[in-house]
Amino acid sequence: MKILVTGGAGFMGSNFVHYWLNNHPEDELINFDALTYAGNPDNLKGSEDSPKYKFIKGDIRDKDAVQSAMAGVEVVVHFAAETHVDRSILGPAEFVTTNVVGTQVLLSEAMAVKVKRFHHISTDEVFGSLKLGTKESFNENTPYQPRSPYSASKAGSDHLVRAFYETYGLPITISNASNYYGPYQFPEKFIPRLIIRGLLGFTLPVYGEGKNIRDWLYTEDHCRAIDLILTKGKVGETYLVGSNSERANIDVARLICDYLGISQGKIEFVKDRPGHDLRYAIDGTKLKTELGWQAIGNFEDNLKSVVEWYKNNEVWWRPLLEKAEIEKGNITL
Ligand SMILES: NC(=O)c1ccc[n+]([C@@H]2O[C@H](COP(=O)([O-])OP(=O)(O)OC[C@H]3O[C@@H](n4cnc5c(N)ncnc54)[C@H](O)[C@@H]3O)[C@@H](O)[C@H]2O)c1
Repeated sequence: MKILVTGGAGFMGSNFVHYWLNNHPEDELINFDALTYAGNPDNLKGSEDSPKYKFIKGDIRDKDAVQSAMAGVEVVVHFAAETHVDRSILGPAEFVTTNVVGTQVLLSEAMAVKVKRFHHISTDEVFGSLKLGTKESFNENTPYQPRSPYSASKAGSDHLVRAFYETYGLPITISNASNYYGPYQFPEKFIPRLIIRGLLGFTLPVYGEGKNIRDWLYTEDHCRAIDLILTKGKVGETYLVGSNSERANIDVARLICDYLGISQGKIEFVKDRPGHDLRYAIDGTKLKTELGWQAIGNFEDNLKSVVEWYKNNEVWWRPLLEKAEIEKGNITL
């Protein structure tokens, strides 16, 4: 099978490339990625030499580039996106062109080659925010209520993907996942940012009072969920992927301090993000009952191993800090 992965040089996409080549060595995998600030060829060390792997530098908004990458492709797994909420608040335009227009270009070109499956990776942020202190959770029937330019642009892409199924019969599936954590996450995101700042002896900034809750999904668990959806999922369906690992940001920050062996006094509360969603939680019943998926392991052990990974891979993250320093203003570590 020939698979086109978009955004495979990013955080989750690169974890997926490693996972797929290890678990499906018979498949050919093309990684199509524009290598924006978030795309990093170093994420692919270990997989880039595989004879089954090919990298194409290209932009999903570029119809000609997408068309030529799509030749012979049977399955598309679409990760490529602008993903950082804070950046979307500062500059929403790039989010709309990449996440909405880019997805439309991919869908049209995937239709032209009659792919067997177009799997779209999305987020639970499209459903908006849940109240703190309740047991409410998102499920596949929850109405969309995005609250940031990032989540609004992802919601737009989800609607387009579903419209291509309803209108043209393109065989699609969609997964809306909760927040990921794992190796290769760009240093501006919450968990790696705290770990790296802690390692450098800086404070660990936490928005507001740190009460915001996320359901943390480990990268490897997410890869297995996508695998199941691709192999056993029903065309036209959406699956929510959560982990039953709801943790308040402040508790995650405290654990990181403990695992780094630094004082929790290093935690610093900073001015909250505008429109900061309070809580996300996922009811994963559909994925569990229909496809038999559930997360393996627990958040604390996985987080500990992620802290170890960043401790042992300064050679990976240090150049990203230096690059960000050159492109001043693009990162607030
Ligand atoms: N990170 C999370 O916690 C999370 C949670 C749920 C869903 N998601 C979704 O998962 C996907 C991957 O997220 P991530 O955190 O790995 O993202 P990331 O920002 O780490 O990586 C995005 C990748 O897409 C590439 N890209 C960006 N614009 C492109 C364009 N125009 N053309 C081609 N490539 C382009 C970048 O170069 C990068 O390699 C996204 O669709 C995101 O919305 C992320």
